[in-house]
Amino acid sequence: MWVTLGPSSRCPDARLSPASPSPARMLLPLLLLPWAWGARTASPPLPPASVTLRLLQINVFHNTSSTDMEGMALLGDLETHSMDCSTCQIRFLQPWAQRGLTPKEWQDLELLIHHYLFNFNRTVNRIAQQQGMAYPFVTQVSVSCEFHPNGTSRGFYEAAVNGEDFISFDADAGTWVARQGDKLALYTRDLLNHERSTAITLQFLLRATCINELKSFVRYGNESLERQERPVAMVFARAPPPAGTPASLLLVCRVTGFYPRPIRVAWLQDGEEVGPGGRLSSSGILPNADLTYQLRSSLAVEPGDGHSYACRVEHSSLGGQSLLIPWEQSWGWGPGLAVGITLGALAVAAVAGVLWRSRRRGYQDVRPGESRA
Ligand SMILES: *[C@@H]1O[C@H](CO)[C@@H](O)[C@H](O)[C@H]1NC(C)=O
Ligand SMILES: *[C@@H]1O[C@H](CO)[C@@H](O)[C@H](O)[C@H]1NC(C)=O
Ligand SMILES: *[C@@H]1O[C@H](CO)[C@@H](O)[C@H](O)[C@H]1NC(C)=O
Ligand SMILES: *[C@@H]1O[C@H](CO)[C@@H](O)[C@H](O)[C@H]1NC(C)=O
Repeated sequence: MWVTLGPSSRCPDARLSPASPSPARMLLPLLLLPWAWGARTASPPLPPASVTLRLLQINVFHNTSSTDMEGMALLGDLETHSMDCSTCQIRFLQPWAQRGLTPKEWQDLELLIHHYLFNFNRTVNRIAQQQGMAYPFVTQVSVSCEFHPNGTSRGFYEAAVNGEDFISFDADAGTWVARQGDKLALYTRDLLNHERSTAITLQFLLRATCINELKSFVRYGNESLERQERPVAMVFARAPPPAGTPASLLLVCRVTGFYPRPIRVAWLQDGEEVGPGGRLSSSGILPNADLTYQLRSSLAVEPGDGHSYACRVEHSSLGGQSLLIPWEQSWGWGPGLAVGITLGALAVAAVAGVLWRSRRRGYQDVRPGESRA
């Protein structure tokens, strides 16, 4: 069965292979043939992923009396709720984000958050003044819990100051851990570890409340979470960066437009998966603007090494099958095309030579007074 890929998947990326000569464009119609699109083959399902509920809180402490706060909640990679303290009200960013809790429960949660923010502001200002911290500064807090497919869960509270890890909460032990060795972090750790009631409340919030809300959001947001966008994949060749790999050609497999995030991309050499090592490199999974993801995987090869190469993509949207995109040497920039051009040029030269010689002979034929050889 053949897979239809988006139009952008069919042509070599001209920006990335600047040496790509114009004959490549003449070959484009060839790339529209089904056998250039990539085949689907059966593949084992990807393991189910863990789900995470994450609350992010950013405070800017301008001075001792002025603080700005912004907060948001994310279920996996979906923004579900936000709050800024012009009103300090919870805003719902998904149609289903309000379901799962009753209006009374939302009210209680909002009050709890206000109470927490008030204490946070007070505690941070107290520490800053006692320790002579310079204003302004920024704090970032991530409160999260994750639920694993095996039924276990974990909770985290992590705080950073001016972009650097500062302190975190060990939810299992119920204690605070300094993430820096400096006096400020150690002082804060000791101060917080003395507030046993806060630690017990936080432990409960992370282990019970957060997980219960996570499960509830997952139930109501399942359609958004289970959204499936099929990857579009293409293979092209480019010269490696000057100080890069020792090989003279990089095969690039560009995979984009997929959702959810988990994906497996592998290079096959003569049908066998190329193991990890210096020949392989990957961009890692990067976000697109439309809440899909992209990834590039490169393989360093020697041109004309006589092997066949293909990129294999496995993703949940492909219904237990995988995309297989072969690299066709004669289409990409590289020796295949170079040989093709050379042969083509030779053929043109030969034809031109024949024509020229026959025309010359023609002239000779009509030139009067000249004997033939
Ligand atoms: C504190 O910062 C805010 C916002 O930058 C400013 O409007 C206010 O005047 C400052 N107050 C003091 C006492 O410096
Ligand atoms: C934060 O705390 C400071 C000092 O305790 C206080 O003056 C200020 O009004 C508080 N700001 C907010 C938004 O609660
Ligand atoms: C459950 O899965 C998580 C994440 O994959 C793992 O870290 C944890 O050790 C597992 N726990 C058990 C009891 O299998
Ligand atoms: C989402 O969950 C609801 C209620 O549990 C269920 O009726 C629905 O079929 C689920 N949708 C998907 C796409 O799984």
